Amino acid sequence: MSSHGPATPMTARKSGPLKGTADVPGDKSISHRSLILGALTVGETKISGLLEGQDVLDTAKAMRAFGAEVIEHGGGDWTVHGVGVGGFSEPEDVIDCGNSGTGVRLIMGTMATTPITATFTGDASLRKRPMGRITDPLSLFGCQAVGREGGRLPMTLVGAADPVPVTYTLPMASAQVKSAVLLAGLNAPGQTVVIEKEPTRDHTERMLAGFGAEITVEDTDEGRVVTLTGRPELKPQTIAVPRDPSSAAFPVCAALIVEGSDVLVPNIGLNPTRAGLYTTLKEMGADLTFENERTEGGEPVADLRARFSPDMKGIEVPPERAPSMIDEYPILSVVASFASGKTVMKGVKELRVKESDRIDAMARGLEACGVTIEEDEDTLIVHGMGPGGVPGGATAEARLDHRIAMSFLCCGMASEKPIGVDDSGPIATSFPIFEPLMGTLGAQLVRSNR
Ligand code: S3P
Repeated sequence: MSSHGPATPMTARKSGPLKGTADVPGDKSISHRSLILGALTVGETKISGLLEGQDVLDTAKAMRAFGAEVIEHGGGDWTVHGVGVGGFSEPEDVIDCGNSGTGVRLIMGTMATTPITATFTGDASLRKRPMGRITDPLSLFGCQAVGREGGRLPMTLVGAADPVPVTYTLPMASAQVKSAVLLAGLNAPGQTVVIEKEPTRDHTERMLAGFGAEITVEDTDEGRVVTLTGRPELKPQTIAVPRDPSSAAFPVCAALIVEGSDVLVPNIGLNPTRAGLYTTLKEMGADLTFENERTEGGEPVADLRARFSPDMKGIEVPPERAPSMIDEYPILSVVASFASGKTVMKGVKELRVKESDRIDAMARGLEACGVTIEEDEDTLIVHGMGPGGVPGGATAEARLDHRIAMSFLCCGMASEKPIGVDDSGPIATSFPIFEPLMGTLGAQLVRSNR
């Protein structure tokens, strides 16, 4: 979808204790990859627990457009009958990835080494985001791309007829770029190598190995070196998608700042390349416990219990932790507003090219709520006001960004006066049940301006 219809303002009021169990939806990153890799096998891949958020639904639609059979069975159960590596057919129409940077970038990578032409677009947020970071490495395989100024969507890709394998060092910490290169490498003969200085989420590597590709990961002085042997025959899989630690962050963080709360969030994926927020919260003094730690489908999983934590202190979050919590800085800046002392987040410039400029969106919204903020290109500093200390009484702009909308709504559950967001619609991209789920826990959310 290129837009989600009229804006739906929403307001959160100071809420009583949040109590109960929060069954958050499936992991967004793993859901996209399950559909894409399923589309590259011959045979039936079965997926349970798929996130049925708009971002993933747009990827499902795209996989159909490239020739795969993607069937929804209800309750998060899906099957994919794929076309095999290099088997994508040319789509008849433009591929609309809606709000999803992950969707468009991974799909561009996947088609880049197949001799077909496809045109991609997205909503107003996605059309502003840089695609040169994807098309630069894809051109090394022999793929051509023509887009708008600054490498923006809409953009047409002509896949390489005779792809060559590539060795590529990531210029920025990005799992999307790494994944696009690996997915392109699937249909190139020989070995494709990606080198990353800082480890980013590794779901693509884990899943490629699970589907039977030959892939190795080595930690070296240069960084992590991922080597993929091209043209494998991928074998269909049965995938149970773990629940999303990035979505879990909202009920967990809301419980930490709302007085008297005690919330259990079961079955959360805790892949170390994703779990940086939880390390940070522990360092701040959050009352967070991990129960039933186990491994499911190759991913570490646990049940998380979060209780109201009135003694949290601001800390300095080390920049090297950024890739493992990149989507969690907006909600961390809310928690930091209710801690005592200042929280310094360095090495976060990638936040400027997410669904919105997340440093600017959080800084302006929190300032409107009475919080003192400092920022520069690569840094966000929040001066905490202590438990219950945020005045609130403002409406924040969601800027077509689900995580900005959810962060301000969680903030409003603990601030003195209500906090509104001008549009809660984007929440459906990743957490379509946010409103009823938070309501069941005791959050006071209403669909209106303050
Ligand atoms: C994602 C990677 C991250 C993250 C995004 C999901 C993925 O983006 O912000 O929400 O699934 O690979 P970058 O690769 O731009 O860091």
